[in-house]
Order: sequence, then structure tokens, then C-alpha cells
Amino acid sequence: MNKKFYITTPIYYPSGKYHIGTAYTEVLVDGLKKYKILRGYDSYMLTGADEHGQKIQEIAEKRGITPKKYVDEMAEMAINLWKKMDINYDDFIRTSDERHEKMVQKIFDKFMEQGDIYKGEYEGWYCVPCETYFTKTQLVDGKCPDCGRDVKLMKEECYFFNMKKYQNKLLKYYDEHPDFVKPNYRKQEMINNFIKPGLEDLCVSRTTFDWGIKVLKDPKHVVYVWLDALTNYITALGYGTENNDLFKKYWPADVHVVGKDIARFHLIYWPIFLMALGLPLPKQILVHNWIMMKDGKMSKSKGNVIYPETLIDRYGLDATKYFLLKEMPTDSDGLFTPENFVQRFNVDLCNDLGNLLNRTISMCNKYFEGKIPKYNGRKNEVDKDLEEIALNTHKKFEKFIDEFEISNAFQQIWNLISRTNKYIDETVPWILAKEMDESDKAKEKLQSCIYHLVENLRRISILISPFMCDTAKNMFNQLGIENDNLKSWDSLEDYDKLEKIKVIEKGQPLFMRLEVEQEVEYLNEKMSAK
Ligand code: MSP
Repeated sequence: MNKKFYITTPIYYPSGKYHIGTAYTEVLVDGLKKYKILRGYDSYMLTGADEHGQKIQEIAEKRGITPKKYVDEMAEMAINLWKKMDINYDDFIRTSDERHEKMVQKIFDKFMEQGDIYKGEYEGWYCVPCETYFTKTQLVDGKCPDCGRDVKLMKEECYFFNMKKYQNKLLKYYDEHPDFVKPNYRKQEMINNFIKPGLEDLCVSRTTFDWGIKVLKDPKHVVYVWLDALTNYITALGYGTENNDLFKKYWPADVHVVGKDIARFHLIYWPIFLMALGLPLPKQILVHNWIMMKDGKMSKSKGNVIYPETLIDRYGLDATKYFLLKEMPTDSDGLFTPENFVQRFNVDLCNDLGNLLNRTISMCNKYFEGKIPKYNGRKNEVDKDLEEIALNTHKKFEKFIDEFEISNAFQQIWNLISRTNKYIDETVPWILAKEMDESDKAKEKLQSCIYHLVENLRRISILISPFMCDTAKNMFNQLGIENDNLKSWDSLEDYDKLEKIKVIEKGQPLFMRLEVEQEVEYLNEKMSAK
């Protein structure tokens, strides 16, 4: 039996068109899932939409349609976008799905029966867009600490979840599972900011709007969004129903991937809900940073929003994915600027990767009629050095991916690309070609040179394949590599197995060089379009 891997994205609020920030999480999770498939795991990816709540109700009312009609339209929008982005999810859960609603009601009842949920009255500062109450001390300059917008003082009857009861159990769990949160400093933030000052009980129902899941025993209440939202990770697998094979197979999740703004809900409340249900906790929670713009967060009113479609339609899917993954550091926010995007495209993709492929294919055609020479050993120190670096790259890559340091993992691939480009300068194949008719040694060296180039391009294609699928396929095609064994992760252990392979007659550029000024202007215009 293959090892299993269950990975989830957050379920997104369908409050508007998704920008590249939202797309980032999806691209990351999809890439990790595809990587695990490459590694032989039985992988399952869940994504979806978080459809209830006051804000969604208000948007729908403004548009003069029912919330249900509104969220249906938005779900279709999301599904189309993920299709366009070749996101290979296994299930798309919507919190308005009957399967989800029914189970949330059962879970709510169970918590009431257990005495984890009690009725009380809530007074606090409420942020409508974030659908979160804050205490006065949590506000920043009197505004929402998460989004910076105005908050209003509100009071209402609501049910609370007794978080305090589980506080010590959670701390103990953190202690005993040092790898639970990636990166680890996020856990410390939770302890310092929310747990040490004393965990507040969480309001889990509302009476001021009705677009939500009704509390069965007290129907004027609807379940407040976070209890509704977080449970999607198990309701989608059929938890608590007769049809729970997926749950039995995949729970606990291997990793929930979430942005830093929702870390608190996943690192504190979700583990506590699971403890109250008597279920195992997810193995890991990966908290990623944000993609920022020059002038801060993306927002329509600032005129600095960039949508994935804009990038994909003009520069292609893989260039878009590459940028998002490469430009997001683990320990700080990533920055999107048109200049940076165009630069990465031209330098990393066109020059470094694209030219390497093109030069290799054209030399292989010119010197050996497209037939890749057989491996004939290491002909000199340069070969040896290159080979050693190549054989180590996937090991380093794997380590970084396991730590979810995607940008650093990509850096390993690009180091190999640079090293391989440098190898061409060092071996000067065009000089060897001139000498090869007279000198067997020169011929042998040239054969070795072309072999090394093609072999390294094969390795590079394998490493990028989970994240830049089309480019990898295109590279394999151009190199004439058809056998699946040569595209497998395991084949990275070998260096000498290319045989009877012929590259295509005329190489096709992977990426067309961009005109810098023109593209920067284009992107700036797109960003400020209202
Ligand atoms: N509905 C909740 C999540 C519930 S999960 C049980 C929610 N939705 S959201 O649509 O507001 O955000 C979804 C995800 O998108 C979050 O992980 C958030 O961090 C991420 N991003 C939103 N803007 C982002 C950037 N600019 N950059 C990177 N990720 C960003 O929160």
C-alpha cells in the first residue's frame, strides 16, 4: 500500500474575484500534492468555498439576489479558475453543501451535550469583513488588527465554546509535537499573543444574520463561521457518516496550508475542536506569508490588484506559477512588482532555462544528428563536478520541500541550471566539434558534453514537473524522452541511463523574451484598472 498524503487549502470566502494572493495558496497546495504523487504517495487534495456569513449575505442583498444564487455563481467562478490553472484537487467542498451542513449541526449538538458549548452574551468590537469579534486591547488604533478597517461595538446572545478548558492540553500538544507548525515561530506567536494572556472562549453562533447553518436546538442562532468553516476538512471526507471510507483512509490530514492571517484559527481553535471530538490532530500546519504590492496589501480601492488571469493569459500558466512560488520567502512576505515579474521571466525562464534547452538541442542536432550519445564516463574534472552537483540537487530539493521552503527548493534547481550553463562555457563544445574529425579524444569529450547537458535537462524537468507541468512535458518532448521510467523520481539516482534517444529536429523556445518597458507598462495598467 502506498503511503497516503492528505493536503488542504483554506476554503476561500467568495466575496469577490480571486486575486493572485488567493491563487498563491492554491498553486502551492497543488504543487505539493503533485510532488507527493511523483514520490509515490496516494495523495488527496481538498479545496472549496466558505460561503456563509454576514458579509456574503450583504453582498448578495446589494446585488438583489439570494445568497445561495450568489455563492453558486462564485463557486462556478472558482471552479473555472482552478481548471484554467490546472489545479488537480480531488474534492471541492462548499459550506452550503448538505453533507457539510448536516454534520456541522451534529457536531454543534455534540459539543452542547458535552458541555463544551454554553449560552452567553457577547459584547465586543466586531469587524464585518473579517467576521471576527475583538476585545478592546486587541484593536490597533481602534481598528481591526487583521484588516485595519473600522469595527463596531456590538452585543448579542450567543453560544460560546469553552476554549479555556483545553488550553493546557493544547500547550502540551504543542510541546510534544515540535514539528506541528511550520515555520515554528508561528506557534510561538500563538502562545505569546493568545494563549499566555489567557485564551478567550470563542463565540460560535450568531443571531444578527441568518445566512448560515441553523443550530438545531435553538434555530434563531446560526453557527458562527469558524466552527462552520474549519470542520470542512473532515466533513468533506464523510466524517461521522456511513460513507466515511475517505475519512478512515486520509484523516488525520498531513498538512493544512493556510495564510498567516488565519493561523490563529488553525493553530488554536481547530486543534481544540478536534480534541473535543476525540479525533487526531493534523500532522502539520503550514503557515505562509502574503504576497504584497509596492504600496502594501492588494486592494481594489488602491488600484493595485493583480488577477491570475491577467498573468496567465499573457505570460502562460507556468511562468505565473513559477513567479508565485519562487518569490515567496518562508520568513517574510513576497513582493509582486511588474518589474520583478518581467525580470524573473526574462532571466530565470528565458535566459537560464530556455536557452539551456535550446542550445543543447541545437548542438545535439548539429554534432550528432539529434542522437544523444551514450554515456561514456566522466571525461574530465568539469564533468565530475557537474555530475556530483546534479546528483545532489534532488536531495537538497527534497529537504527544502519537506520543510516547505519552496523558494529555496526552486533555488536548488536554478543552481543546477546555472551550473549546467557554465559547463557549456567550460567545455567549449564548438571547439571540440571542430577538432572531433581529427581527434577521438575531442569526439569523446563532445559526446560526454552533450550527454551531460541532456541528462541534466532531464533531471531539471523531473524536478519542476509537479510545479510547472506543461514546461516539464514540453522539455521531455523536445529532448525525445518518452519512457516514463526516465521521468520518475527514482530515476534521479541514475545518471547514465539515456540510450537510443533522439531530440527533436528544431527546438522550440520555452519562453519568449519580453520587452521590458512595454510589459511593465501593460501590467501597471492592468493593476490600476477599476
Ligand atoms: N474563509 C477563510 C478560511 C477558512 S479555512 C477553514 C478565509 N478566506 S479568504 O478568502 O479570506 O482567504 C483565504 C486564503 O487566502 C488565506 O489563507 C489567506 O491568507 C490567503 N490570502 C489572501 N490574500 C493573500 C495574499 N495577498 N497573499 C497570500 N495569501 C493570501 O480566510
